[in-house]
Amino acid sequence: MCVMKPATWYISMLIVAFLYIYLTAIQYIRGEELPNPQTVRQSLHARAVREGFGGSKFLSKQGPVNGPSLRFEYHNYDDLTSYLRNHLVTQYPRDEYARWLLENTRIHIMPSMNPDGYEVSKEGTCEGAQGRYNARGYDLNRNFPDFFKTNNARPQMEMEHVKEWLSKIQFVLSGNFHGGALVASYPFDNSAKSMFQSLSSTESVTPDDDTFKHLATIYSTNHKRMYQGRPCKGQNGFKNGITNGAKWYPLIGGMQDFNYIWHGCMEITLEISCCKFPLAEDLERYWRENKESLLRFLGEAHRGVRGFVHDEFGNPIEGVGLKIKDRDVGFKTTRHGEYWRILLPGRYVLEAYHDNYDPKEAEFYVVDDRPTLLNVTLSRNSARTVFDTSKINFPSN
Ligand SMILES: *[C@@H]1O[C@H](CO)[C@@H](O)[C@H](O)[C@H]1NC(C)=O
Repeated sequence: MCVMKPATWYISMLIVAFLYIYLTAIQYIRGEELPNPQTVRQSLHARAVREGFGGSKFLSKQGPVNGPSLRFEYHNYDDLTSYLRNHLVTQYPRDEYARWLLENTRIHIMPSMNPDGYEVSKEGTCEGAQGRYNARGYDLNRNFPDFFKTNNARPQMEMEHVKEWLSKIQFVLSGNFHGGALVASYPFDNSAKSMFQSLSSTESVTPDDDTFKHLATIYSTNHKRMYQGRPCKGQNGFKNGITNGAKWYPLIGGMQDFNYIWHGCMEITLEISCCKFPLAEDLERYWRENKESLLRFLGEAHRGVRGFVHDEFGNPIEGVGLKIKDRDVGFKTTRHGEYWRILLPGRYVLEAYHDNYDPKEAEFYVVDDRPTLLNVTLSRNSARTVFDTSKINFPSN
């Protein structure tokens, strides 16, 4: 199928408030320092920093030791993330699902990645690219390192801060909000084959295609309209309201591919509005449309397998390279030796690698209604031991 892509298709993560939700189970990483949220919001426009972000607030709720903790960083403009935040906080005492979510999930929200773009964009402007770029004129969703092609765009500060953030926390699941279409788009956004700006787009499938399709479907089917797949003006519709990113149109340097390939974090792109920058008064309607999708999507962080990697003495091992056999995108243990991976029900094999330990494989099953707990114990690398002793100078007789 040939798909023409008018320029208006260019999604505008820079115009509609940009949400970045990240989840990790919380129990063992609480206390881990986040990079200063203010640095992520630094802007080339001093004005944006002063006005748009000067009002940032920090809210935290600490539970008992080893109990739940909750952290949100946010600032003062209205966007969908503030509805989500308010919903979770106000429903916490009454709603069982909200409580379960908050007590078992660490949720990070970045309301916007592009304060410069926000500053120059105009509320109620449904089309065009004003506000898409940062003050230097760079498109931040084309600025990340790319696995398939060389990205020649000069790295921008905003991207670097996000990159640093992603390297510090082993995120499991994330979504980012855009406007300009109505669809949940999943990796890959780029492919080895794709000719940039070619007219035909082909699917670029990840080894976790089943999981990504599931995650996108959870979002679209819980959305009030997205699953219907009806096209926005001048576009094609999307079957079931989901699409593979590259099949829609391939792009270099997008954030979702970076998250997945470099950090094993499953990110999808949520195009939630045909209008790129809807009026503030319509935000409540957008919230109602997306509420169930967002809440269900967050819960998906608890699907699959999780556990610890220990040495023979029960000490956690940090930075163990992990992979699900036949799914060649890796992830790593945290400094507490923990790991998570979202998987659909089935039989899998976990592979664990570390320079100082013998590699290990462990078979496990995933079921639908709860995560599988799987601890792995690694033994010191025997080859390394032999090598080390050979270096000892034994006294000669
Ligand atoms: C896995 O390891 C964690 C952390 O050491 C421990 O709390 C948990 O009981 C272990 N689970 C199993 C099934 O061995």
